[in-house]
Amino acid sequence: MVKATVGGEYLKEFEKARRDLRALISNRNCAPLMLRLAWHDAGTYDAKTKTGGPNGSIRTEEELNHAANKGLRTAVEFCEEVKAKHPKVSYADIYQLAGVVAVEVTGGPTIDFLPGRKDSLESPAEGRLPDAKQGASHLREIFYRMGLGDRDIVALSGGHTLGKAHKDRSDFHGQWTKDPLKFDNSYFVELLKGDSKDLLKLPTDKALVEDLKFRKYVELYAKDEDAFFADYASSHKKLSELGFNVKDRSMLVKGAIGIAIALTAVILGYLRELNINKTS
Ligand code: HEM
Repeated sequence: MVKATVGGEYLKEFEKARRDLRALISNRNCAPLMLRLAWHDAGTYDAKTKTGGPNGSIRTEEELNHAANKGLRTAVEFCEEVKAKHPKVSYADIYQLAGVVAVEVTGGPTIDFLPGRKDSLESPAEGRLPDAKQGASHLREIFYRMGLGDRDIVALSGGHTLGKAHKDRSDFHGQWTKDPLKFDNSYFVELLKGDSKDLLKLPTDKALVEDLKFRKYVELYAKDEDAFFADYASSHKKLSELGFNVKDRSMLVKGAIGIAIALTAVILGYLRELNINKTS
């Protein structure tokens, strides 16, 4: 696991924010909305231009007014309460932490979290998030742009195990699973059952069973919840860290290599010393 690159004070405040988010999300039953907030802040990332991503910019009027973000103002306002109590913690960290906590408190996998994201007020142009009316090639275009792959697309789509669509927000209506406050693999189980009059399937959801490369993961996750949880946790972590901390990480890796070389030199020196003592 990569260690956080923020100081102890930040980490302390951050852990308190995590506890507050747990309480807030449980009390208000808003896990699905919080997960959608985290995903929509992160999902604008463009790996080529290194713009967008989990940087808190979704709180700007401009970005909140993007059509894809309808309904997310409430989630931003909820997070504002946590920010007011823990002003040191960046918005970007609070939004991503809210997403991770949302998954955990509804019974999903534990997701490793690296704090220290920087905030930005620069919103990407509208249109970077996926359009639910399209199909597999659109999904690939959007997620590949972020630097993610097919496995991530299917695993992350499993986020629809939570929540519902609202007519006044997206023009879609209904929920994907029977218990939209329980994070499990039922999204995939329902997907394989085909059309149902009770449960929702967006065109982008259907694309996951129609495209054979996607379908093999849908089948895997429908029969093996542990495989889904493991892949989901790994893809969610990637999503939450898009464009974040790359420099710090490479410095950490370089630091670790430096320490390993120094240690080897010390050990070799010691062994040589032992040898000299033995032969003299
Ligand atoms: C794959 C492309 C995706 C498309 C096209 C898509 C589309 C949508 C749409 C249309 C809604 C309904 C919004 C509303 O009316 O309230 C929605 C809700 C939701 N989405 Fe997605 N989504 C995608 C991926 C994801 C991902 C990657 C996650 C999280 C990992 C996610 C999490 C959610 C959640 C939790 C809700 C429910 C929100 C609520 O109950 O208020 N979605 N999504």
